[in-house]
Amino acid sequence: MKIAVLVSGGGTNLQAIIDAIASGKITNTEIALVISNKEGAYALERAKNAGIEGRFISPKQYTDKEAYSQDMIKIIKDAGCELIVLAGFLVVLPESFVNAFEGKIINIHPSLIPSFCGDGFYGLKVHEKALERGVKVTGATVHYVDSGTDTGPIINQKAVYVKPSDTPEILQKRVMEEAEWIILPQAIDDIANHRI
Ligand code: GRF
Repeated sequence: MKIAVLVSGGGTNLQAIIDAIASGKITNTEIALVISNKEGAYALERAKNAGIEGRFISPKQYTDKEAYSQDMIKIIKDAGCELIVLAGFLVVLPESFVNAFEGKIINIHPSLIPSFCGDGFYGLKVHEKALERGVKVTGATVHYVDSGTDTGPIINQKAVYVKPSDTPEILQKRVMEEAEWIILPQAIDDIANHRI
């Protein structure tokens, strides 16, 4: 199964996928393409180091969202990708893009959906809100992407305990280490091997 990984930042989830393929935790899978909407994203460096084609494509390079959508669809289809993995991708994808790949886009979200998700809940904000609310357990969710924000069917979740001394930054790191980097590769392996 060829996959495209869409990123915006540091790419630690991308790295977890690269490592899981290298170690055999993910089988029958090849990352054919990494696309970043941020030019200097470290994720592109990680792709390069792993010998994977990385491209910088931003909606800002297009006259409108639809032109961006059509070009992204073409690039991903031309690369033969059967699954699109949003790994810290901060662009809200146009509906035409989501429709073109129905049931073929997955996302990792750093909370236990339906808590702390939806519009405006991304990055550190998610963990700030979890700490503000005083939850004792949070976690991460892998889900299919539909036309809503974090509303698609849930594939996998993993819980992580919150500690009294947590800051949003500390909690973000623990959620990544204990949940995101585990369940995202797992979901890809499950899809590649037809367990989902
Ligand atoms: C992760 O917390 C992911 O859940 C969220 O954005 C962050 C991306 O981190 N959507 P990285 O770029 O994979 O390091």
